Amino acid sequence: MNQFKVWYLASEVSPFAKTGGLGDVTGAFPKALKSNNQEIRVIMPKYKSINERKYVLREVIRLKDIPVTINNVTRTMNVKSAFLPDSKVQIYFIEIPEYFNRSGLYTDRATGKDFPDNAERFAYFCKGALETLKILSWRPDIIHCNDWQSALAPYYLQTVYKDDDFLQGIKSIFTIHNFSYQGIFKKSMAPTLEIQPEEIEENGDFENNGKINLLKGAINYSDQITTVSETYAREISTKKEFGYGLETVLQKKSKVFSGILNGVDYTVWSPSADKKIPFKYTGEDMEGKKQNKQVLLTRVNLKYQEDVPVIGMISRVVEQKGFSLLLEAMDQLMELNVQLVILGTGDKKIEKQILSFQKKHSGKISLNQAFDETLAHMIEAGSDIFLMPSAYEPCGMNQMYSLKYGTIPIVHKVGGLAETITEYNPDDKSGNGFVFEKYTAKDFIRAVKRALKIYKKNELWNELQLSAMQEDFSWDRSAKEYLDLYMKMLDES
Ligand code: GLC
Repeated sequence: MNQFKVWYLASEVSPFAKTGGLGDVTGAFPKALKSNNQEIRVIMPKYKSINERKYVLREVIRLKDIPVTINNVTRTMNVKSAFLPDSKVQIYFIEIPEYFNRSGLYTDRATGKDFPDNAERFAYFCKGALETLKILSWRPDIIHCNDWQSALAPYYLQTVYKDDDFLQGIKSIFTIHNFSYQGIFKKSMAPTLEIQPEEIEENGDFENNGKINLLKGAINYSDQITTVSETYAREISTKKEFGYGLETVLQKKSKVFSGILNGVDYTVWSPSADKKIPFKYTGEDMEGKKQNKQVLLTRVNLKYQEDVPVIGMISRVVEQKGFSLLLEAMDQLMELNVQLVILGTGDKKIEKQILSFQKKHSGKISLNQAFDETLAHMIEAGSDIFLMPSAYEPCGMNQMYSLKYGTIPIVHKVGGLAETITEYNPDDKSGNGFVFEKYTAKDFIRAVKRALKIYKKNELWNELQLSAMQEDFSWDRSAKEYLDLYMKMLDES
């Protein structure tokens, strides 16, 4: 296999900073690529929340006080470096205090609203990431970008740096983790981002509904585009409700657009190795899972009852994740003698509604309004069932983690969920979870009932858990698919 040099841009990378599955992927994929003997380096913003001591961030003398200029406005950046934990993958952090030294990554913690200068913040991140390469004198074959925050990098490569001796000719690949976050900004921002006037004219490469759409620009300017499952690739390029009007833009790129399912980092997410859970366990010895269930329930202030199934949910509290369905079905769900543990924050209105159900069905629901990685691992380990009723789901990571923890998923048949979870059939023992096709409260409750029916049959349930735990969604396969794409991109040049 050829060796590639890859510069990987991401706005969040676990464990340094994470708001969702994106952080897990960007923290794991580079390690998988490295174990395939590739040279990959990662770059992200240095947010206030990143603990420099804990992760041993070092200053790089050459990378101090570097000017980054966009539209004649110069900011000064420092670039620090560290390693992804337990690996030799080098990661760089762009420090521009006026942009990144605040609480929250994309939204203001105090108000829950997006920062008004997000476009500018991430434009400097993109340009800073390219300038860093020049100073390091490290020329990658490929820059690999993720989501709208790094959308301007492929554009700058092909415009601002078109004739740059060092950067010209570098290929770009762009991975879409969630098509509903497109980076939409007012047209008047174009000069501030160094987007040329013709790009924002009607039907221009960055224009959508009279606004700047960074994701559209990235699709138009990247050599290769991927998203995080084949099903989602199909959904966003063919269906209006998934593509938000950009289906045709993707269709035009169909030759260079594909879906590759994310993998799981089992050094972080498996119950026999998990450092964040008190009792380790395996499919052969599930005693630890019971003990974790007790610890979990104490932790979330619910009473432990051995035979009452605990349903876990870890999710940003936003419409996408199926909360309207859950709220509609909540009273019915509570009649089924289950306990529900939810971890996540987001939309305050939805949180309030869950809290009022929590009051009504006291002792049966626990909403934990936090972002808490340790509790997330505890929910995977201590729950019996995992819920992902998402309206859409590009890939979804927690359903794959759940399988490894013997926590059987109930999912809506969309995107990556449809690709990874299939309905359990007690007759031939095929399938690994419970799946509903129609996005209705009725179908959702039916799936829960099917799950509970099997849950009551101990022997079947244990068998189902064991086979779920044996499934393998590790990164290796996906990393190889990305390598094939890299190869294709470079062959074509
Ligand atoms: C986003 C998507 C999720 C996906 C993750 C990583 O968070 O919503 O489905 O698993 O990105 O690609």
